[in-house]
Amino acid sequence: MSNTEYPTVKDLTLEEKASLTSGQDAWHLQSVEGKGIPGYMITDGPHGLRKADSSTGNVDVNQSVPATCFPPAAGMASSWDPDIVDRVGQAMAEECIQEKVAVILGPGVNIKRNPLGGRCFEFWSEDPYLAGHEAVGIVTGVQSKGVGTSLKHFAVNNQETNRMHVSARVGQRALREIYLPAFEHIVKAAQPWTVMCAYNRVNGVHAAQDSWLLTKVLRDEWGFKGIVMSDWGADHDRVASLNAGLNLEMPPSFTDDQVVKAVQDGRLSEKQLNRMAQGMIDLVNKTRPAMQTQGYKYDVEAHNQVARQAALESMVLLKNEGGILPVKQGESVAVIGEFARTPRYQGGGSSHITPTRITSFLDAAADRGQVVDFAPGFTLDEAEQDQSLTNQALQAASKADKVLLFMGLPEEAESEGFDRKTLDIPAKQIELLEAISSVNPNVAVILSNGSVVSLTPWRDQARGIIEAWLLGQNGGQALADVIYGDVSPSGKLAQTIPMDLYDDPSMVNWPGEEGHVDYGEGIYVGYRYYDTFHKEVAYPFGFGLSYSEFKIDDIRALPDGRGGVRVTARVSNLSDVDGAQVVQVYVAPRSHRVSRPVHELKGFRRVFLKAGQSAEVVIDLDSRAFAYWSEAYGDWHVEKGTYGIQVGSSSRDISAQVDLDLPGDGKRLPLNEWSTLREWEDDPVGGPIVQKMKAEGEVGRLPKLDDADDSPASFLAGMPINSFSVLVGEGGTRMTSFLLDEYARQTGVQ
Ligand code: BGC
Repeated sequence: MSNTEYPTVKDLTLEEKASLTSGQDAWHLQSVEGKGIPGYMITDGPHGLRKADSSTGNVDVNQSVPATCFPPAAGMASSWDPDIVDRVGQAMAEECIQEKVAVILGPGVNIKRNPLGGRCFEFWSEDPYLAGHEAVGIVTGVQSKGVGTSLKHFAVNNQETNRMHVSARVGQRALREIYLPAFEHIVKAAQPWTVMCAYNRVNGVHAAQDSWLLTKVLRDEWGFKGIVMSDWGADHDRVASLNAGLNLEMPPSFTDDQVVKAVQDGRLSEKQLNRMAQGMIDLVNKTRPAMQTQGYKYDVEAHNQVARQAALESMVLLKNEGGILPVKQGESVAVIGEFARTPRYQGGGSSHITPTRITSFLDAAADRGQVVDFAPGFTLDEAEQDQSLTNQALQAASKADKVLLFMGLPEEAESEGFDRKTLDIPAKQIELLEAISSVNPNVAVILSNGSVVSLTPWRDQARGIIEAWLLGQNGGQALADVIYGDVSPSGKLAQTIPMDLYDDPSMVNWPGEEGHVDYGEGIYVGYRYYDTFHKEVAYPFGFGLSYSEFKIDDIRALPDGRGGVRVTARVSNLSDVDGAQVVQVYVAPRSHRVSRPVHELKGFRRVFLKAGQSAEVVIDLDSRAFAYWSEAYGDWHVEKGTYGIQVGSSSRDISAQVDLDLPGDGKRLPLNEWSTLREWEDDPVGGPIVQKMKAEGEVGRLPKLDDADDSPASFLAGMPINSFSVLVGEGGTRMTSFLLDEYARQTGVQ
């Protein structure tokens, strides 16, 4: 059947069109059987397929058909590798095809504004560039197989507290520079077939009813071609939402009659309903070929291996004193901590997957024939520490050359639905570490947690730390690969680990009050704040150690003639261990009139290098890399000036900086009576007019400006030109008129 044979809105009744804008049940699109429109399934996402066992609206998040559980975004984000993310996406799509799921609900690219955020485990980063440029792989990977994605949650869904109603009060600049760019990049680069709007309000308007967000920005500015669906239960007014550009309400509220009535009484134009309903038909048509594939079976083991590779790239080696890791041949090892036997590998809530299989570190060590002395050390519940577990752990630790201590957050500690109250891991685990390190200082800690935990209270008692995040179903094998040295760790932090929770700038406004939360820190989120304001951090953004040793040098940056810059650098593996390094490019505006972060990530490349090998990396920055969102222009603006191009391996480890003078985009705001004398002087049209005015002063036709006296001159320079009379008296108003009249004459601007 060719596309042209499919029905369009023209073939449907008003009632049928209205019905397409709501689901059939919690997990199905509405069908119109008689007209050849099937009701395909759509379901979570985002790090594997969560298909409810029953197709009749079962919402028990823990009852789903088995699917490969890939590392959640917190892990995969540390890979800085869009290619592995794309491979994960392809594998997820294959599982969707087998299970007849037309759209998988993800990726979720909301910014990790505060590490307490309950869904930090399934979001990507504190940095929008990184979030967008990694998560795009999910969209390209899934959609390359003919299955749809849902980029969520659009927008500014950064906390769980009061998530259905809270109004995120955020300035335009922070919206454009921090909270929207990950969405923008993915929409422009990969056209997700669907976008899911957020539950919360954005500056007072429910996202589902926000035509500025869903139509002006998403469709008109960014060119989004797909459909927008509501988050589950986020649509509170069908008519307002359809008018705003929301195609689909999920799950259904059984209010199609309201839509029909609104068309009949003119509150919703039929044209708009047609647009929204046609979007739904187009979506169904895009997914038809994949959904009509019969008898497809994905390769369970191949996907398990993709999960292993993704897990391998997700781990971040934070500390490795004296090369405690990897474990060397012949060393005796005590493995302590329940997480080694009962891995914590995913987060809770709508993303919860029933894995096809699960491999713990203990299983993986046994598979390799490694003999380890295991002690659980603690229980994963909230019970008080059991002294016999401590004793058993100490006994194992005291006999071993090295201790691998598996610590982390139990499942109940973090989930969709609530924000955390603390960054601390349970006290009994830390007490156990203290006890163990006093009998054997050779302790390497392996952490399992979805979002940042505090490390400063205990990190001195561990010689090694692997931040393993949540590694998905095959994390055990991946951990064994790294711990026994088959693979060098290569993950880099996608989120700063602060010294203390209260160092985080958003704590001042967290989690809000009386139905709103003020994003008072503006653009200063994560490292943008810590690095600009010289705050000590435990581990900086972009940081991660390796068993290999790398050097980045020969850094060059050249304007490309189109407003962008081509950055090249050489990265060398100086060691005899194969490994991957991530070359990171930060742009540091050196002279700027508006407040700007000291630097921002604008490019990166993960490079795998065999021992002793070097490679040249080329990273192209477009003009957006230098821009800020100007509220004055209501647009992006690149100022003329000097920009440092920094290349390094974390936000605090910059190998070299090249300074470039860029001409800027040439945008100018029209001058008016409220522009300051300095702004007039700096303007190519205004400057000569000021000179002319001064010349008039010299010959006595206007009051004279006293250039010699610096202080009033600089005082004057900062004043709007309509205030001359404050300094020069009565003739000041004539000076103002002179400037404005001359400007109007030359530019036509009144
Ligand atoms: C979550 C979404 C999810 C949806 C369907 C909502 O509660 O916010 O991320 O896709 O449920 O399960």
